[in-house]
Amino acid sequence: MTDHIKEIQDFLKEVYNYDFSGYSSSVFKNGIRKRTEAIGLSDAGQYFEYLSQHHDEIDKLIDALTINVSSFFRNPLIFNYIENIILPQLIKNKVGAGGKALRIWSAGCSAGEEPYSIAILVREFLEKNNHPVQTNIFATDIDAEILSRAKAAVYSSEDINNVRYGLVKKYFTKKGSDFKLKTNISEMVDFSVYDLLDKRSKAPPVSIFGDFDLVLCRNVLIYYRKEHQDLILEKLNHSLINGGYLVLGEAETIPQKDRKRFRRLNDHSQIYQARKS
Ligand SMILES: C[S@@+](CC[C@H](N)C(=O)[O-])C[C@H]1O[C@@H](n2cnc3c(N)ncnc32)[C@H](O)[C@@H]1O
Repeated sequence: MTDHIKEIQDFLKEVYNYDFSGYSSSVFKNGIRKRTEAIGLSDAGQYFEYLSQHHDEIDKLIDALTINVSSFFRNPLIFNYIENIILPQLIKNKVGAGGKALRIWSAGCSAGEEPYSIAILVREFLEKNNHPVQTNIFATDIDAEILSRAKAAVYSSEDINNVRYGLVKKYFTKKGSDFKLKTNISEMVDFSVYDLLDKRSKAPPVSIFGDFDLVLCRNVLIYYRKEHQDLILEKLNHSLINGGYLVLGEAETIPQKDRKRFRRLNDHSQIYQARKS
């Protein structure tokens, strides 16, 4: 098994430019097993052969390799902080900067729950404060299949468990037992496939140059080994403006040695401010 796993990783890198060498090996093996069984093959060797001959298998494999668990306002305290401290501050800066757009990136956005939660907060804030600030929200993921679900914007009641009742009524329509997000929110988010380990660009190509005021990269780093986490953090630092905010997942932290580039805002959340030299 192990040899074929390495072969598949090398193949993904050489042919598709995906670097899974620093990815959690148990999650990787699980993904291969899932696809091997789904096709009705007996081992990873056979699967490797299949993968090399079927180009349409790649999206299914990436989908099987990735863990897409998410929900609206996951870890509500973080969203409280964003709503009450970060957004007002960023929007005040934009109003003072004469018409510059607010730029936000959800990196590893899964089925859109995270960027849409942010879009709801931004819309609510702008509406209440009557600020005409233009907002660009980019949301990217390595998994093309999950992004199709993000664009469809249909969620189960469990997915929207943390959404306040008033916001559910305002921004969702019931569709059978599911909830469809209204277009005034879904149209605020621009989704694209992007691998955070892609060395060819420093920010998602659709965003052109990065320059983000706020980046959320939550529950992505945990699946990678240290060297790959460093590469991702380097990219995130590069994509932020000086003083821009980075929000990580609860179990993710920036090592002390990198605190020159990222200042931690407080002891109880993984929110950092980028410092550029
Ligand atoms: C557990 S979900 C987290 C979703 C959301 N950020 C949250 O915290 O609820 C992790 C997401 O990261 C994506 N991902 C994993 N590796 C990635 C990479 N190298 N580049 C971009 N996205 C990646 C996965 O496809 C998955 O959708």
